Amino acid sequence: MAHSVLLIIGGGIAAYKSLELIRLLKGRGIVVRAILTKAAEEFVTPLSVASLTGTKIHTQLFNLTDEIEMGHIELSRSTDLLVVVPATADLMAKMAQGLANDLASTTLLATDKKVLLAPAMNVRMWLHAATQRNVAQLKQDGIFFVGPNEGEMACGEFGPGRMAEPVEILGAIEKLLNTAPKVLAGKRVLITAGPTREAIDPVRYISNYSSGKQGYAIAEAARDAGADVTLVSGPVSLAEPESVKVVHVQSADDMLAACQGQYDVVICAAAVADWKVANATDHKIKKSADQPVPILAFAQNPDILAQLSQDGPKRAKVVVGFAAETDRVIDHAKAKLTKKGCDLIVANDVSPASGVFGGERNTVHLVSKTGVEDWPSLSKSDVATRLVAHIAAQLS
Ligand code: C5P
Repeated sequence: MAHSVLLIIGGGIAAYKSLELIRLLKGRGIVVRAILTKAAEEFVTPLSVASLTGTKIHTQLFNLTDEIEMGHIELSRSTDLLVVVPATADLMAKMAQGLANDLASTTLLATDKKVLLAPAMNVRMWLHAATQRNVAQLKQDGIFFVGPNEGEMACGEFGPGRMAEPVEILGAIEKLLNTAPKVLAGKRVLITAGPTREAIDPVRYISNYSSGKQGYAIAEAARDAGADVTLVSGPVSLAEPESVKVVHVQSADDMLAACQGQYDVVICAAAVADWKVANATDHKIKKSADQPVPILAFAQNPDILAQLSQDGPKRAKVVVGFAAETDRVIDHAKAKLTKKGCDLIVANDVSPASGVFGGERNTVHLVSKTGVEDWPSLSKSDVATRLVAHIAAQLS
């Protein structure tokens, strides 16, 4: 049976993008019903929405004919997913408070289905403590979000607040409906993620700030695309993704050993330590006043990406590396592509100001032999979905 989505179109300049979203959803065979708030009617007309959805548009809470045909309670439940485009500051504040004084807010309160919000508003409104408080509350209530993105706003300001593009919203909808095309069906995908720990002695180690979030997000996206995923993970504090084979390792040597096998795609997202401690001891090094402070000697770690990129019968068809840089990001990534022999480098700026390490968002550049693609600031999960789509296109 066809999936159905109830679009709640809010009153913001981004409302026009809901028309493109309807077109995309219909193209996927998804049934679309729509509610327009009073303010939304200032930006798009019920007639233009209805001619795209091919279904009746709902605008008022107290409409006798509508209530007889399909009451607002039934409207909120006879769908697989509710999607608010754009989710305005006002509508989110109402939802966070549980207010129900028009058809949109009443439907959102009455539903027992998943709800996805695509916020759009002026950057100051988005960053305002009240909005951020409401967003945190809504996330805690189990509401899903896509965007907002950073960029030029209709009001001329720049920053977070731009509504996610219709294709991104479609991607989020497909993920929630579990209808994303299985572009990696039957493919074996190996992903490395997180930092490595290089022992100094049994109780001390050297490591780095990698959270593993990007690699874990890629593992989930590859799984959702139908792949058989092995995730080789350094120590992180993330939950294991479901339906993914997770191998936990500590050091770079352990990671390399866990990466043997035959795969169609290899994605090295781990922040592998470049060096291990050559004079690591198997007993705890004692601190003592009459002993000199220990001096660590380092040895090179194996370069897992370079090894897995080497030509040979077992080489995966697509090998992807990451380049975490703090300066001249693209130049370094291009050099790395050649040096390591991989097919694609996902380059990102990890200078402390970028907030990438441990953060939820990432701005990456995809560097291949044929050129560079600059992607906008996206959630790590959206970067993962796009990367998986890109790799699938390369495989086919
Ligand atoms: O050499 P560098 O650390 O800058 O390269 C980053 C890329 O190489 C990442 O994809 C990382 O996972 C991979 N790498 C690796 N083994 C290493 C060092 C880096 O797989 N020893």
